[in-house]
Amino acid sequence: MKTELIKPTSENLKICAEAIRRGEVVAFPTETVYGLGANGLDSNAVKRIFEAKGRPQTNPLTLHVCSLDQIESVAFLDDRAYKLIQRFMPGPITLILKKKDIVPSETVAGGQTVGVRMPASEIALKFISLSSVPIAAPSANSSGRPSPTSAEHVLSDLGGKIPFIIDGGECELGLESTIVDLSGKQTKILRLGCISEAEIKRAVGKVLIESASLDPTKIPDGFEPKVKVIFVPLSFKQKAVSEKTLNDELLAGKKARIIKKRPSDEYAKVLFDEIRASESDGFDTLIVQGVKNKGLGAAINSRIIKLSITSKGKR
Ligand code: TXA
Ligand code: MG
Repeated sequence: MKTELIKPTSENLKICAEAIRRGEVVAFPTETVYGLGANGLDSNAVKRIFEAKGRPQTNPLTLHVCSLDQIESVAFLDDRAYKLIQRFMPGPITLILKKKDIVPSETVAGGQTVGVRMPASEIALKFISLSSVPIAAPSANSSGRPSPTSAEHVLSDLGGKIPFIIDGGECELGLESTIVDLSGKQTKILRLGCISEAEIKRAVGKVLIESASLDPTKIPDGFEPKVKVIFVPLSFKQKAVSEKTLNDELLAGKKARIIKKRPSDEYAKVLFDEIRASESDGFDTLIVQGVKNKGLGAAINSRIIKLSITSKGKR
């Protein structure tokens, strides 16, 4: 199959929306990362997402919507849900809610809950609205690869496997959405993202952070980079530790580099691209500096720690 990279003109978005209605898959930009979309109400269409990504069918998909009506058509909402929707949508948040029968079990891997996200990206909203169905979409990487933050990343993972990639340039945020589970009595954060624990708390009161942040191996949707990732937490000796580690790796004959920390919003935006670029440049080891563990910084650290556990060199 030939994969077409296309610009997000109105005409092209209509072509892609028609492809969605025919049951095909289309990669599209959001403000967090690129998604790989298909009609979330069509069980045959969503199967194509799992095939293209090589994603286990046991991993549920998130429905991308463009309106409150659409959320109400697929899930049951309580007070907390309405508060979070009003405060943060459209935006980088995914809510896990009790699903309605209209959502096929293939979309949600057989479960009784469904993830719902209303992206802030204008291109994504227009594309969803033209498709006139909720669009099921995981991140548009092959399973085990970093989430894609540019159309080129998607092309390198899924080229030849999908008909269209809508090229919206680089994603504004670069880190996947914050996932908040509202399906039980307790509000739980399953994945940290650009919306912080403190912001969720301010909106709905008590929040539990699911073991994910305490046990980074449990962060949903981590990946396994081919390079060895070494996490150097923020401390007064971070620079010295990074340099010593670099030296040790170089002495051991490894091609190694340091990814220096920077302001959190900038860091979130470049992290996955830095990892992909280091892999394609043939690096063996990445020494990655952590940031202050607060707000977006906590989300960044959780991703780097997970990488340091799952990366090739440590296995
Ligand atoms: O920012 C994002 O969330 C991006 C963009 C494309 O919207 N999407 C994304 O999707 O990161 P994905 O599938 O790569 O990550 C979503 C995670 C998955 O690990 C999945 O297991 C979890 O959310 N998830 C989805 N539905 C769920 C559900 N019903 N219950 C529990 N976890 C769920
Ligand atoms: Mg993913």
